[in-house]
Amino acid sequence: MQAIVNSIRMHWRDEGEGEPIVFIHGFPFNSRMWDPQFSALPAGWRAIAPDLRGFGASAAGPAGPYTMDQFADDIAGLIDHLGIRNAVICGLSMGGYVAFALHRRHREKVRALVLCNTRPGADTEEARRGRLVQAARVREEGVAPVVESMLPRLMSDLSVKKHPDLVGRVRGIMESTPPETMARSLEGMAQRPSSEDQLRDIAVSTLIVHGDDDAIVPRGEAQMMARNLRGARMEMLEDCGHLSNLEYPGEFNRHLNDFLENLPAGYGKLKLA
Ligand code: MLT
Repeated sequence: MQAIVNSIRMHWRDEGEGEPIVFIHGFPFNSRMWDPQFSALPAGWRAIAPDLRGFGASAAGPAGPYTMDQFADDIAGLIDHLGIRNAVICGLSMGGYVAFALHRRHREKVRALVLCNTRPGADTEEARRGRLVQAARVREEGVAPVVESMLPRLMSDLSVKKHPDLVGRVRGIMESTPPETMARSLEGMAQRPSSEDQLRDIAVSTLIVHGDDDAIVPRGEAQMMARNLRGARMEMLEDCGHLSNLEYPGEFNRHLNDFLENLPAGYGKLKLA
């Protein structure tokens, strides 16, 4: 599906009928990363997965960093476009940074949160500098520097051994992302504020899913987030790296679907006129 949202042509996947859940992809992926969830949502749920601006089949926006606030405003615009009042928001890694921004800016649209392999903290000064160096390299050399530095750290050794095809699939999605989109997202992530203080303001039901072998967001950061989020449920997947939904789709879906089925009564369907 596609439509003009916030003045850009936005593409999203939209399957099933019922209570909406919006899946927000990580960096540098697109909506295809949610294949295993689209094929296994429980009855009564509608899965919506946008390509963030510049990614997948969505158009690029005007020049400048892709901030998490901008991505969040695009998700809010899509939710409005669909005539939905609110949705469960499921974000992985950068998608989680966007979920925090959405909660900060449009909290009425967030019915519940699923935070996967993500963190509330801002970048350290060193990480910020590293992102800007990487953005400059990607502009000069294309996507290879990002793909080659991230790919070996994305999945656990066991996942790679168990699913040798997964590395190729993940590489394919990463390589399809335009270099300029990578550079602008790196600049946007470098600018993002900390969401740590926001944790105590989050009152919606929250599920945290993480991998105990995540080399990009160390598990301690997710454990800290769980401790500071009232009533959050935490699922730490064993021998799992940074891409929990792809590495352990069965376990991931079991936790997600159980969380969805036990949410307080839904009110996300259609806005009342
Ligand atoms: C992601 O998977 O979205 C990124 O690794 C997030 C990040 O670089 O902080």
